[in-house]
Amino acid sequence: MVIITDATEADLGQIFEIETESFDDPYPYSLLRAYLFLANKLYLVAKEGEKIIGYIIGIIQYGYRGHIVSIAVEPAYRKKGIGTKLLSEIEERFKLNGAKYSYLEVNINNLPAISFYRENGYLIMYMRRNYYGRGKHAFVMIKNLYYKFLD
Ligand SMILES: CC(C)(COP(=O)(O)OP(=O)(O)OC[C@H]1O[C@@H](n2cnc3c(N)ncnc32)[C@H](O)[C@@H]1OP(=O)(O)O)[C@@H](O)C(=O)NCCC(=O)NCCS
Repeated sequence: MVIITDATEADLGQIFEIETESFDDPYPYSLLRAYLFLANKLYLVAKEGEKIIGYIIGIIQYGYRGHIVSIAVEPAYRKKGIGTKLLSEIEERFKLNGAKYSYLEVNINNLPAISFYRENGYLIMYMRRNYYGRGKHAFVMIKNLYYKFLD
C-alpha cells in the first residue's frame, strides 16, 4: 500500500537517491534538506512500507499561488499513479493555504513530465527562455485551483 505523508529528515537519503536518478542536474542534498524548513507541510513523500518511492516539494508564494518546486518518482515505480497522488495531495494543501492556482516550470524537452502535467489539468502558458541555462528553455504550466467549472 502506498501512503502520502510529510517528509522528515530521516527520508532525505532516499529522496536524494531518487533525485539523482531522475535529473541530469539534481538539486544538491543541502537544498533538499533546506526545503524541509522552507516548505512547511508542503514537502511530501510517497511510501511503500519504509521505502520512499517518490517526493514532491511545493511552496506558497504571495499567499495566493502554489509553486511546484520539484517532483520525482523512483524510475521502477513510474506510471502507476504515484506522481498523480503526490500532485493531488499538494494541490489540496495549496488550496487550504489559500492558493488560487498552482504552477511550475518544466524543461521543454521533458515530454513525459509535460504529458503528466497535462493529464493532471495543467496548461502550458508560456516559455521561459534559458531558464535552466543557455539554450535550456522551460514551459510554465498552470492549473486553476479556484473555480470549479461544470462538465
Ligand atoms: C513526471 C513523473 C513525476 C510522473 O510520475 P508517475 O508516477 O510516473 O506519474 P503517473 O503514473 O501518476 O502518471 C499519470 C499520467 O501522466 C501521463 N504520463 C506519466 N508518465 C508519462 C510518460 N513517461 N509518457 C507519457 N505520459 C506519461 C500519463 O497520462 C499517465 O497516465 P497513464 O499511466 O494512465 O497513461 C515521473 O515521470 C518522474 O519522476 N520523472 C522524472 C522527474 C521529472 O521529470 N519531474 C518533473 C520535473 S518538472
